Amino acid sequence: MLAHYFLPLSLLSLSLTSVQGSPAQAPSPFRLKIRTRSPPIDRRVADGTQTQDDIPTFNDTYAVKEVYAMVVKYIQAYRIINDFNVTTDPDPGADYPQFDLNSVDTQDLSPLQAQDAAPVHTFVPPVGHGAAMVPYTDYISGPMDVLYYGPLALGTPEQSLNFQVDTGSADLWVASNCQNCVNNGFKGRRSSTFKSSTARCALAYGAGNAWGTVSHDTVSIGSLTVQKQAFCAVYKVSSDFNDQPISGLLGLAFRTIATIQQPTFFENLLAQKKLAKSMFSMHMARGQPDGSEVCFGCYDATKATGPVSWHSLISRTYWSLSMDGISAAESRNVPTNLTAAIDSGASLIHMPRRVVDAFYALIPGSYRTDRYGAGFYAYPCNATLKLELSFEGRRYSIHPADFNLGKMDTDTTMCIGTVVEINSDLGDNLAIIGDTFLKSWYSVFDYSGRVGLAPSINNS
Ligand SMILES: *[C@@H]1O[C@H](CO)[C@@H](O)[C@H](O)[C@H]1NC(C)=O
Ligand SMILES: *[C@@H]1O[C@H](CO)[C@@H](O)[C@H](O)[C@H]1NC(C)=O
Ligand SMILES: *[C@@H]1O[C@H](CO)[C@@H](O)[C@H](O)[C@H]1NC(C)=O
Ligand SMILES: *[C@@H]1O[C@H](CO)[C@@H](O)[C@H](O)[C@H]1NC(C)=O
Repeated sequence: MLAHYFLPLSLLSLSLTSVQGSPAQAPSPFRLKIRTRSPPIDRRVADGTQTQDDIPTFNDTYAVKEVYAMVVKYIQAYRIINDFNVTTDPDPGADYPQFDLNSVDTQDLSPLQAQDAAPVHTFVPPVGHGAAMVPYTDYISGPMDVLYYGPLALGTPEQSLNFQVDTGSADLWVASNCQNCVNNGFKGRRSSTFKSSTARCALAYGAGNAWGTVSHDTVSIGSLTVQKQAFCAVYKVSSDFNDQPISGLLGLAFRTIATIQQPTFFENLLAQKKLAKSMFSMHMARGQPDGSEVCFGCYDATKATGPVSWHSLISRTYWSLSMDGISAAESRNVPTNLTAAIDSGASLIHMPRRVVDAFYALIPGSYRTDRYGAGFYAYPCNATLKLELSFEGRRYSIHPADFNLGKMDTDTTMCIGTVVEINSDLGDNLAIIGDTFLKSWYSVFDYSGRVGLAPSINNS
């Protein structure tokens, strides 16, 4: 698998370490690149109802990169999940009243009933008053929704750049005076509020690395502003950072896992009482560049078709939920006992091998394949499936189009599934739940300590 040895920084896998030392000078300018948008894709539904000629061929480029990238991104997960040496944090949303979709009964509806229900919410987000509804762009490669990015403004005056949104990490970083970055970066010297420090931040991703300096500046999204936000200003990256349209990454997990050991942008908004609600909500579009959205401090009822179901966090580290099952059909279920990190920075669903083996065993004719390196499984393209994940006994279905990554090119009857095996270095109780899942469920990340899931308009 030499071809996939280098990982893109954006699929990252941030493993930042904060190191004391003097900042190195890295003055080279980077090239400006005008971003072009690809046209909307006619995403065919690979659910067994189409002819197999319609199913696109699996392109392993990004899927394989992600499998490798997760090893680095979650290398600390065992320690964190088991609470070794994790600094406990006060509840960053403590002073906010718990969000309540009033008059909506979320208890008595199963996900299926919820999907059938008509839209019931009339909540209007107070945009401009403690909230920002921010359009995001889906970066697409073939049939895969690779990553989602949106704007963030840094500095005084503001420099607006594109950042991947990532609930699976808790550091903010941006290319800055970057020697070898193609995409536009942040120019600290043009900002009157920019402050550098002597603390280094080192980002390790697979075989490559990125190097930066812990810095501070004003950061905003819409009307929401934090002064003196800490971030890693990256001045050098190795290898192929440059194949995606982002200048950095916005980590939206908890500071307990931030490697620069500073509050996240969202936690600073909370602490400074800038928000109407102590939460953000995500809509990930399927197969179209436009239409995704992150609602900071708000819930956008137009993105959901039913009530929210809530699940308590296991800890304020990752957005971690207790996952007790995965099924391929109503009666075919694998019980699990996993800590599931809800990760908008991942595309696929990653689980330990014993679980993934047991899951594909529920699909007759499927097998593990080493053709793309470790981690992938093939299954008959015409299999009738109803993929569901279960959190605290409640089942959440995933749209069939999102399960199928495409057919194997030499075998037109076998397809590759989006449920992949996690590297055994990451322990045997971690699951990483990526956009494959979030495309079916509008998700609410509530700092009172829970995640809410409502059926997405994508599936209506
Ligand atoms: C916790 O931190 C201490 C001191 O840095 C270290 O000696 C110990 O190995 C760490 N424990 C774990 C489980 O990482
Ligand atoms: C697979 O996707 C990558 C990244 O988008 C692209 O560069 C490559 O040409 C694709 N390969 C095929 C065979 O389509
Ligand atoms: C799940 O795992 C946790 C810790 O790993 C353990 O305490 C608990 O008993 C397990 N539950 C089941 C149902 O196996
Ligand atoms: C799927 O296709 C295979 C052969 O192409 C056939 O034997 C099998 O019955 C089909 N299964 C379903 C569920 O249609």
